[in-house]
Amino acid sequence: MSLKQKRFTDGDARSYGGSENNSVKLISESTIGVLSLNRIDVFYGKYQALFDVSFKVQKGEALAITGLNGAGKTTLTRVISGLVQPRSGCIYFNGENITGMRIEKINSRGLDLIPDRSAVFNSLSVTENLRIFFYKTKSNTPVEELVQRSFDLFPRLKERGNHVAGNLSGGEQRMLSLAKALVDPPEFLVVDELSMGLAPRILDEIWKRIEEIKSSGTTMLLVEQYSRDVEKVASREIRLEKGQIVGS
Ligand SMILES: Nc1ncnc2c1ncn2[C@@H]1O[C@H](COP(=O)(O)OP(=O)(O)OP(=O)(O)O)[C@@H](O)[C@H]1O
Ligand SMILES: [Mg+2]
Repeated sequence: MSLKQKRFTDGDARSYGGSENNSVKLISESTIGVLSLNRIDVFYGKYQALFDVSFKVQKGEALAITGLNGAGKTTLTRVISGLVQPRSGCIYFNGENITGMRIEKINSRGLDLIPDRSAVFNSLSVTENLRIFFYKTKSNTPVEELVQRSFDLFPRLKERGNHVAGNLSGGEQRMLSLAKALVDPPEFLVVDELSMGLAPRILDEIWKRIEEIKSSGTTMLLVEQYSRDVEKVASREIRLEKGQIVGS
């Protein structure tokens, strides 16, 4: 079955009330999925970027969100991870209402965003960046082992280990910001345009790693412009156009 055939819009999530319904904190996972968005509207000032967006993600699946420039994909990743707040609607993660929660809190609950632009500490070295990433890990693997695994995944980062991250090329910075989630995956991973700024050879390796992470149980929301970029990994696709989910 093609991704296009697997597209759907989920009206079910709409029955769970608006953002004012914060008193209802816990709802069973089987009813609403690991992640559930319910009638989300997002504005930047007077400009509305997302309109009435509802869908849910089931445990262990990789859901693709596709759409052209300006469709609202990055905004969607931001509202899920707590970087922007919806004007209306609500978001549940593992049965908990996380609407309005800050990114650090959402992150501590197991949801991690790889943003479209690199997120690194410019004045610190590559190795120091990696140590900081892994310092808060919940896994039992020692930090230095995770740093070594990052170098195994991205040998270029090892070569640049002592250089400050601010001097890395765009692609190298992207590798550095990807390393954390790819080496020490969260329970739920949101990736905004994985392919951005990376050479095809490296991208093949990264997609393989994404497939391994999926097999090990991480639930994913993968944002890309086109279905073809995610069809190997994603089991389902939702397409955004001008801030709205469009049906299949
Ligand atoms: N901080 C902001 N202030 C005002 N408007 C914004 C802001 N961020 C995004 N927008 C607008 O919201 C709309 C959706 O932007 P968004 O970045 O979510 O799209 P996108 O689908 O990720 O696009 P791209 O494929 O180019 O990354 C666009 O029209 C954009 O101009
Ligand atoms: Mg974007």
